[in-house]
Amino acid sequence: MVAALLSSTAIAQAEDVEVLHWWTSGGEAAALNVLKEDLKSKSIGWIDMPVAGGGGEAAMTTLRARVTAGNPPTAVQMLGYDIQDWAAEGALGNLDAVASAEGWDGVVPTALQAFSKYDGHWIAAPVNVHSTNWVWISKPALDATGGKAPESWDELVAVLDKMQANGITALAHGGQAWQEATVFDGVALSLGADFYKAAFVDLDPAALGGEKMAEAFNRLIKLRSYVDANFSGRDWNLASAMVINGEAGMQMMGDWAKGEFLKAGKKPGVDFVCIRFPGTQGAVTFNSDQFAMFGVEGEAKQSAQAAMASSIMAPTFQSAFNVVKGSVPARTDVPNADFDDCGKKGMADLAEANGAGTLLGSMAHGHANRAAVKNAIYDVVTAAFNGQYGDGAAAAKALADAVEAAK
Ligand code: BGC
Repeated sequence: MVAALLSSTAIAQAEDVEVLHWWTSGGEAAALNVLKEDLKSKSIGWIDMPVAGGGGEAAMTTLRARVTAGNPPTAVQMLGYDIQDWAAEGALGNLDAVASAEGWDGVVPTALQAFSKYDGHWIAAPVNVHSTNWVWISKPALDATGGKAPESWDELVAVLDKMQANGITALAHGGQAWQEATVFDGVALSLGADFYKAAFVDLDPAALGGEKMAEAFNRLIKLRSYVDANFSGRDWNLASAMVINGEAGMQMMGDWAKGEFLKAGKKPGVDFVCIRFPGTQGAVTFNSDQFAMFGVEGEAKQSAQAAMASSIMAPTFQSAFNVVKGSVPARTDVPNADFDDCGKKGMADLAEANGAGTLLGSMAHGHANRAAVKNAIYDVVTAAFNGQYGDGAAAAKALADAVEAAK
């Protein structure tokens, strides 16, 4: 009797998935719930392992500790090059069987497959495509400036100036390195997709240390002048809340910010406006959240991983989840019918950029280069934002040097 009970408990536990993730804000938790409920309906139990911290740095530190202790979670939210690094260490499981049964090769965009596959094998299931070159503007605050959304750097500065003159914080920002890097994705892209690629993807020293990078840093330093005095250490979702509450005019942030607006009951086009970072329309800096499956022993655990991956990849789930999360589907065959205007724009922009060769991995979110290089870029970007270099040219030189040392 006891033995039977024990073994049935063991089976029940084996069919749970323990999921490590950093989706802890209101909008993120709402999206996560769509996933939890979906798995529950398939009798896959959920053991939650949340590690707060946008961009996932803290989650990756916890993951490293868990793996070192010989106790990896079942599935881990992961970005870009981190997935490839864990695969190279031989730590990840293999999803080939479910991927081939469901034809993932034919529906997942190639730019994503570059991260979901290692050595030709599927190792992660992509749940979404986010992008970082967005600006989220309070509609009332924009209307108070004349109502026209900015389309160029000069227009952006003019709108920020007017918002400031109207007595609000023009730019809602949280002083954390990854948030400054996220803003810098858009700023750098506004100086050209070719430039962004040369600097952040190809790590070309001339682009990293050259005139355009100096200009990008000058723009970043200018943006710092629109931030309120209490920005240091503020979480990104609290910066979103400032725009939602009318305390601030706009936030430069990936489309997970839309999840916060929606969670607060705000409507695109009515309460807030979504635009591409001025000067970047036509190009997209993307990041995709994927669930990497860690190597686990036992058939029941492996089949729970496969079932979770299969659930994530289902077209209906991809629509339901991404409508809430603010991102767009990681498959090309999901209808846009259920998405709001910002989501529809996100899907159209992604397809356009993919066709034009201007779909580029986000530097800030681990899709342009490996963690060592990313962190070296973070350090310089955040120091520049906080006024540690005399001007953009000095920051660009520091960036080229830092990347060279980290390569
Ligand atoms: C992830 C998003 C998440 C955001 C803020 C990004 O790196 O891709 O899913 O919402 O960080 O936590």
